[in-house]
Amino acid sequence: MSDFTSGFWGPFIAIVTLISVIGCGVFLKVLSTRRLAPGEKPGTTGHVWDEDLAEYHNPMPRWWMWLFYITVVFSLIYLAIFPGLGSFAGVGDWNSQGKYEKEMADADKAYGPLFDKFLKQDLKAVAADAEGKQMGERLYLTYCSQCHGSDARGAKGFPNLTDNDWLYGGDAEIIKASITNGRSGMMPPMAAAVGGGDGTNEVANYVLSLSRRPHDAQLAAAGQAKFAVCAACHGPDGKGNPALGAPNLTDEVWLYGGSEKAIIETITKGRNGQMPAQRDALSEGKIHLLAAYVYGLSAKK
Ligand code: HEC
Ligand code: HEC
Repeated sequence: MSDFTSGFWGPFIAIVTLISVIGCGVFLKVLSTRRLAPGEKPGTTGHVWDEDLAEYHNPMPRWWMWLFYITVVFSLIYLAIFPGLGSFAGVGDWNSQGKYEKEMADADKAYGPLFDKFLKQDLKAVAADAEGKQMGERLYLTYCSQCHGSDARGAKGFPNLTDNDWLYGGDAEIIKASITNGRSGMMPPMAAAVGGGDGTNEVANYVLSLSRRPHDAQLAAAGQAKFAVCAACHGPDGKGNPALGAPNLTDEVWLYGGSEKAIIETITKGRNGQMPAQRDALSEGKIHLLAAYVYGLSAKK
């Protein structure tokens, strides 16, 4: 009701509602009290079907009438207690905002001490704790699975979090930083820098050779020199740079695909994976549990 800017509509709606409800009761009373005099034939409503099938004007059955009276009384009591009558808030002082706040306060009371307990512990200790792991998993499924998958194995463009292969590093604290501050992978379009289409082909074949994938040796040899511009980020040996999130190109783990076609597409168009920062969305207690959970997914493997 807070949408109404004028003070008129609240009372207006309240009065119309009350008149309708009470009117229903009065109407019912009038209809149900008329009884037939002895010997009087009930009239008909005037509706006739199938030649002679007529509808008599009889009073309603009593059980039905009482049910109707009960609903009238019920709605009056309901509207007195709960909000519903214009802008009248009801004597029960109930509202959805208050209910939500109470639920949140209850949840904080129930889980707050748990979050605090884990927040004081080292990430590795939390990762080894069965309860911490369980809470982390639930948080993961709620906040992260839509991108990294419910099994955390990721998808094209969304890194696998279980394989102990990291863009930014797999230290527990670094994982926590990835989650807290988010990450933005910046691979610029590089085709022009390697001399266009042929150059892209050559560099792509050199990249294939780094992980010993099937490739054209001649093209790869020509691409090696051109890889110098890539080395700034991926390192001279192509092993990547966690400070930039530049992936290791020598392993068999691919974020965007390791086929010649996918690599050419990466070089031509660039890539810009975005991990959204959770700092403002989640409490530190939750991020702590999440970081421990993600760390635990691949630790010791
Ligand atoms: C909107 C999609 C999205 C959501 C939601 C998301 N992530 Fe990510 N996450 C990404 C992408 C994309 C990357 C890779 C960024 C890049 O390419 O540089 C990433 C990267 C990461 C990394 C770094 C991985 C590495 O190899 O270094 C971690 C850790 C991570 N996410 C954990 C999480 C957790 C925990 C959550 C839940 C709170 C989460 N992510 C929610 C998309 C998402
Ligand atoms: C400015 C730094 C930078 C330069 C220069 C750069 N890259 Fe990248 N590259 C990245 C980053 C960061 C990513 C990850 C992008 C993401 O997370 O979305 C990436 C991703 C890739 C991938 C995808 C790997 C996968 O797992 O799917 C390939 C392939 C690649 N780069 C090849 C190259 C080649 C070849 C060159 C040179 C022509 C090059 N890069 C130059 C930073 C760079």
